[in-house]
Amino acid sequence: MREKILINDVGPRDGLQNQTRVLSVDQRVQLIRGLLKAGVRSVEAGAFVSPKAVPAMAGTDAVLAGLSADAGVDFQVLIPNLKGYTLARDAGAGTVVLVVCASETMNQRNVRMSIEESLAQAQEICAAARTDGVRVVACIAVAWCCPFEGATEPGRVLDLAGRLFAMGADDVNIADTIGAANPRAVGRLMGALAQEYGAGKLACHFHDTRAFGLANVYAALESGIRKFDSSIGGIGGCPFAPGATGNVASEDVVMLLEQMGFDTGIDLPALMAAGQLVGEMLGVTTGGRADTWRRLQLEKESPLI
Ligand code: COA
Ligand code: ZN
Repeated sequence: MREKILINDVGPRDGLQNQTRVLSVDQRVQLIRGLLKAGVRSVEAGAFVSPKAVPAMAGTDAVLAGLSADAGVDFQVLIPNLKGYTLARDAGAGTVVLVVCASETMNQRNVRMSIEESLAQAQEICAAARTDGVRVVACIAVAWCCPFEGATEPGRVLDLAGRLFAMGADDVNIADTIGAANPRAVGRLMGALAQEYGAGKLACHFHDTRAFGLANVYAALESGIRKFDSSIGGIGGCPFAPGATGNVASEDVVMLLEQMGFDTGIDLPALMAAGQLVGEMLGVTTGGRADTWRRLQLEKESPLI
């Protein structure tokens, strides 16, 4: 039996929120269907945020409605506050991703609240979610580095994770929002978090800004982490964090994990097709770092794994 890894594709949220071209609800549903066809079982389908702040995420309720027939899939949605929670619950989201930044400046820029104000809302959201039967993933953004305040003190992330678990968060996702972490720093922080709270309730989210995305995935794997966010085609970036480029590409992460003997449950050629589709929709180059090699392998009918 190969060990399973859960891949949560954040392309339909993180990938789309910072693009020049805004996709229609139908295009977003088509993209997510492409991911499901490839075997992806967890998708960040959108965000309930202010449409003025992030126009590309408007209509997330309609995206969820368009997917309601796709059973057995965890559709996650990002929320910044209590209003976002109510909208997400009413739209039928099974999991909400509640974002809190590890630095004050980034939290203010992102959600216009102090960290303590965000935590007060998190407390209310966790309590409501327990009653409503909604899963809560708490995401700690800029966990290694903030574009405004520099390096993040690891103790701060440990403390925030502890408070979010105590409120009832089901999982805590540790995010390198601007792609500034390196494998050693990942190993240190994820090792400490895993020791304190258990690796099973932790996930990682990496951006590939400095080309360390896959190395950071590997470092987190070595710390026992088995849940990863990645983005189809490597698209992505945060509109409120200057200099952040795309997420680590799902195609690259799946290939790395499968070649190492893990089981992602995802079919790589079908995933590549979804990556190509989103690239065509957005008019950008997609595919991840090993895209050329993978295409050559497919042309030669040689194995990818
Ligand atoms: N979803 C949709 N609309 C929301 C909302 C939500 N979660 N929260 C607030 N709003 C609306 C308010 O109803 C109000 O609408 P109105 O202008 O029609 O009256 C408007 O947004 C402003 O409300 P306010 O509470 O003053 O918010 P703000 O202007 O201080 O902005 C956020 C705060 C959190 C809503 C906004 O900064 C945001 O959506 N940020 C998201 C950031 C993000 O997605 N980052 C990337 C992922 S980490
Ligand atoms: Zn991100």
